[in-house]
Amino acid sequence: MARLSDSADGCARLHPIDDAATGVKGVIAIDSTVLGPAAGGCRLWHYADDDAMRTDAVRLARGMSFKNAMAGLPFGGGKAVLQRPAGDIDRATLFRVFAEAVEALGGDYITAEDVGTTVADMKQVRERTRHVAGLDAAPGKAGGDPSPWTALGVFEAMKVAARFALDSDLRGLTVAVQGTGSVGAALCRLLADAGATLVIADVDSRRLAGLAAVHDARIVGVDDIVGVEADIFAPCALGAVLDARSIPLLKAKVVCGAANNQLATDADGERLVARGITYAPDYLVNAGGIINVSAEYLGETTQQVQERVLGIGARLHTVLSQAALEKRSSHVVADEIAGQIIAEAAKRAA
Ligand code: NAI
Repeated sequence: MARLSDSADGCARLHPIDDAATGVKGVIAIDSTVLGPAAGGCRLWHYADDDAMRTDAVRLARGMSFKNAMAGLPFGGGKAVLQRPAGDIDRATLFRVFAEAVEALGGDYITAEDVGTTVADMKQVRERTRHVAGLDAAPGKAGGDPSPWTALGVFEAMKVAARFALDSDLRGLTVAVQGTGSVGAALCRLLADAGATLVIADVDSRRLAGLAAVHDARIVGVDDIVGVEADIFAPCALGAVLDARSIPLLKAKVVCGAANNQLATDADGERLVARGITYAPDYLVNAGGIINVSAEYLGETTQQVQERVLGIGARLHTVLSQAALEKRSSHVVADEIAGQIIAEAAKRAA
């Protein structure tokens, strides 16, 4: 099989950040540059130790290789993680040191926001390297908040999944949305406009009442949303929500949402198949954000972003059809297709 990853053993190339003068620690993991520079955000998180930090970076970088390949982007996969210091954070120093590490890679890695980092942080990074996206949009150009694009991609995917599994459009279907943050709230708007009935839950109750009033949504507790009576479950909060405990509770016949890493383990993909639940692979359907970020880096237009995001539905249809035909889990089929895209590009380049 042709090479998927930059290193011979299939593991990510790791570039540690360990700045004695400032104490800034982190790692940039480059999983693959076969399709182009490795693109993926920078996560600021508290890790128990360096091993945990590296493991997370490697796992996230591989995920970005698959996500970017599946989205048809000319980018490989990479991710940066930074150790979140205890107490007050000197963000200026942290992101100066990080920016220098990104710049030292000469464009092999392109960064953006992720969990724990903001547009302001990336603007700081931009002062020392141009290999960063997720900044403000210039007029007519791609850029700015990726969440509405992520929501649009999930919405397009959901239409396809509903037709595929329930032979229905979204009008009249009930969608349970777990997490009404940036993506979840935008998704609720699209779903309400499409005539879906909404059930919503969030640990932060502030946004719920407003959303419920505007979209006539029913609010349920965070412990109840998974098992609520619904046609579609849309995880838009945390990862690992689909596991041995939650899957038996699901009443929905379709799972399609924005959260990353929804399956706690591969076995949970099989559990969904066994229950006859159609799973829309997370990184396929939530690619709208990276599509927008990569277009910003390439200086493309919002029109180009829109066209690519609207392509998510067709890609999902391919994956769901193949999974149904072969009676396999959709997440395994998606990984295979993404892996093939990278392997074929590597063969062409060899
Ligand atoms: P966000 O932080 O704006 O919203 C997440 C929401 O989930 C918050 O309102 C939070 O209170 C809520 N939440 C947390 N724990 C919860 C729980 N146990 N039950 C119910 N609600 C809970 O994040 P955002 O940007 O909306 O992203 C949502 C998910 O989509 C995340 O998993 C993120 O990694 C993923 N994603 C986001 C993209 C983007 O463009 N923003 C792109 C690709 C993936």
